[in-house]
Amino acid sequence: MDNFTFQNTTKIIFGKGSENNVGQEVSKYSKKILLHYGGGTIKKTGLYDRVVTSLKDAGVDFIELGGVKPNPRLSLVQEGIKICRENSIGFILAIGGGSVIDSSKAISIGSLYSGDVWDFYLGKSEITAALPIGTILTIPAAGSESSTGSVITNEDGFYKRAVNSELIYPKFSILNPELAFTLPKYQVACGSADIMAHLMERYFTNSEHVELMDRLIEATLKTVINNVTQVLDKPDNYDAWAEIMWSGTVAHNNLLNTGRVGDWGSHDIEHELSGIYDVAHGAGLAVIFPAWMKYVYKHDINRFAQFAVRVFNVENSFWSPEKTAIEGIKRLENFFKSLGLPTNLKELGIIDDRLDEMASKATNSDLSTVGNFIKLGKSDVYSILKLAK
Ligand code: NZQ
Ligand code: ZN
Repeated sequence: MDNFTFQNTTKIIFGKGSENNVGQEVSKYSKKILLHYGGGTIKKTGLYDRVVTSLKDAGVDFIELGGVKPNPRLSLVQEGIKICRENSIGFILAIGGGSVIDSSKAISIGSLYSGDVWDFYLGKSEITAALPIGTILTIPAAGSESSTGSVITNEDGFYKRAVNSELIYPKFSILNPELAFTLPKYQVACGSADIMAHLMERYFTNSEHVELMDRLIEATLKTVINNVTQVLDKPDNYDAWAEIMWSGTVAHNNLLNTGRVGDWGSHDIEHELSGIYDVAHGAGLAVIFPAWMKYVYKHDINRFAQFAVRVFNVENSFWSPEKTAIEGIKRLENFFKSLGLPTNLKELGIIDDRLDEMASKATNSDLSTVGNFIKLGKSDVYSILKLAK
């Protein structure tokens, strides 16, 4: 097990009706806030009205900025920064999924920085200050509700880039599984694929003697697999949603990263897909992850065989761990298919050939590598994209 420091500072407020006290929670930080949300689902479901009532009851003034698109854009972030600066905003409340939360995080760091917020995403500047943010999560998926990450797309060149800092842990996140009842089936599937990918990125590691985390990751994967089919059958199954929502947070709050180095190559490659083609991140991962697995499994066949046996109940073939490993990858692919997800680029709607461009962008024209399990250069990324075709 590797040395580690672990501290996740996000307070989780979980359960039915938990959003109704958001005003009190927010007022601990500021009485003047930015209310940030997406394309309007929260208005249709009545969540917006409940939040506004709670804020008013707590004497919190707000300015609102809606319109965050999936794969959130830099231009709206810039608009948010302007609003925060001009109105001395002291707190940002994000209502939505990973896109709204990531956009809020970007606004929070940009508001207190004199330069261009994109500097952080290019690694040109270190984050030293951030406005506090809180979230009300409406889709279990990205894990941004208690992660150090923010992923933004710059429309100038369609670069999708991430930044990480402990300063952008949300102060609190409200998780009410009831809020997920209205999700379209496709978003349910995409969210589950993303949660599973966060677990698998951590699972495929070169760190040794990491049994506790292996077992916790396997348990979380099995929980998602067992419950996602239940919510697809019955969208108002609270108990199944509760399992998935908590799994989504646990999958990405860094606990399951302790003592080990995760991979993250599939995420870096996928960000080029969703950056250029604006596809859902989870759908992109359903295509890229199995292709990555096929490309790298020989590096540690026993770990892949363990995954197959423990997560997908593949019978352990002692005379051929490779056969077991390959069967595990196949079952993962079939599981994604059963959720209605694409498992190749064509099914994802990508028929033109920009593989070279994506491989180049992911590896900074071969000047850097992606992933840790095996460090992948441009030609490796190109081969993985080809396998995904
Ligand atoms: O915009 P609205 O109207 O809210 O609709 C959204 C959106 O169209 C809809 N939706 C959300 N909750 C709903 C709902 N529809 C009905 N009922 C509800 N309760 O779902 C659509 C997708 O929303 P989005 O926020 O884009 O989904 P997700 O949470 O999957 O976030 C994806 C983004 O997160 C990034 C991804 O790259 C992507 O940009 N990620 C962020 C990470 C982080 N910050 O730690 C890590 C992840 O690996 C990921 O990269
Ligand atoms: Zn992800």
